[in-house]
Amino acid sequence: MKRVYNFNPGPATLPLEVLKEVQAEFLNFDETGMSIVEISHRSKPYEKVHNQAKADILELMGLGDDYEVLFIQGGASLQFAMLPMNFASKEKPGAYAVSGIFSRNAYKEALNLGVAQLAASTESENFVRVPRQDELKVAENAAYFHLCYNNTIYGTEYHYIPEVGDVPIFADMSSDMLSRPIDFKKFSLIYAGVQKNLGPAGVVIVVAKKSLIEKSLDGLPTMLRYDTFYKKNSLYNTPPAFSIYVVGKVAKWIKDSGGLKVMAQRNRKKAQILYNVIDESDGFYKGHAQVESRSFMNVTFRLPNEELEKKFVAEALEKNISGVKGHRLVGGMRASIYNAMPIEGAEVLAEFMKKFQRKNLNFTKAV
Ligand SMILES: Cc1ncc(COP(=O)(O)O)c(C=O)c1O
Repeated sequence: MKRVYNFNPGPATLPLEVLKEVQAEFLNFDETGMSIVEISHRSKPYEKVHNQAKADILELMGLGDDYEVLFIQGGASLQFAMLPMNFASKEKPGAYAVSGIFSRNAYKEALNLGVAQLAASTESENFVRVPRQDELKVAENAAYFHLCYNNTIYGTEYHYIPEVGDVPIFADMSSDMLSRPIDFKKFSLIYAGVQKNLGPAGVVIVVAKKSLIEKSLDGLPTMLRYDTFYKKNSLYNTPPAFSIYVVGKVAKWIKDSGGLKVMAQRNRKKAQILYNVIDESDGFYKGHAQVESRSFMNVTFRLPNEELEKKFVAEALEKNISGVKGHRLVGGMRASIYNAMPIEGAEVLAEFMKKFQRKNLNFTKAV
């Protein structure tokens, strides 16, 4: 069976154990004689999957009964709109830190509704870092402060939790949710499109304080109200059962592997292996992110010229290293090293990078 080291940014690599389990129980899920995609979302076997996934996510995050897990469709992009619709107003705008394209998209949705306040932006520096605490200007009357914790395209990540007084913090953690322990209690609402670190596309996990979502504004359409999902246990309409089922399996895999502490150790190690190659390459590889904002999930770097970058991608593939081409806005390479990427994968890529540099040094000098 051919499997590659899959460095794609999302949809992305999933734990092989999980994929095998899904395969093994696909035709006869839980002795129903049907697959998970054929059974009713109101059936007992599905209900077990749904509720266990919610419980495991809360347990991994160290959150208690005052938080609720919701499963919503529409991607993280729909959350960009639902947040201001549900929580912001002209009197109480949403405050936004813009640190990349996705946080800018979130900000724009609030701006379109006339309920946005810009708290900080690193756009003028081509998003090479996340804003620092001393740059955040959050309005006192802000309904919430929104940030994107890991910027998938640029390879930057927050390594601190902003202090914003009594303003509730909302975070897009699409590309680093459950990758390391964070003091999640400091956040009032966290959301993640699962297709990077947690499962197949199709569902967004929203983890929010119950007090925030038990009653939504009058007049909002049913499917755009958080209280619809809260009151009906995310079963008001047909949920994306397969995605939730795989997310549940990935959450269990994380628990069985030792939880978020172990994920963090592994993710740090993988990132260190790759950043070391960049730092010791004498400028052959140039990281996009400034050192203090470097992501543990997406390692972005450039080569001396675009021709070499094309060659890098093609030759990497010959070594079973897939998905390293960077986003067009940054160019160069991006190695996404989510939870399911084994340390061995980072080592194989690091070795390849070193050899590639040795083989192409002359080429660089000629440029
Ligand atoms: C950090 C972040 N937020 C939001 C999104 C958008 O997610 P979706 O495609 O689920 O709408 C992405 C997608 O890549 C992302 O990386």
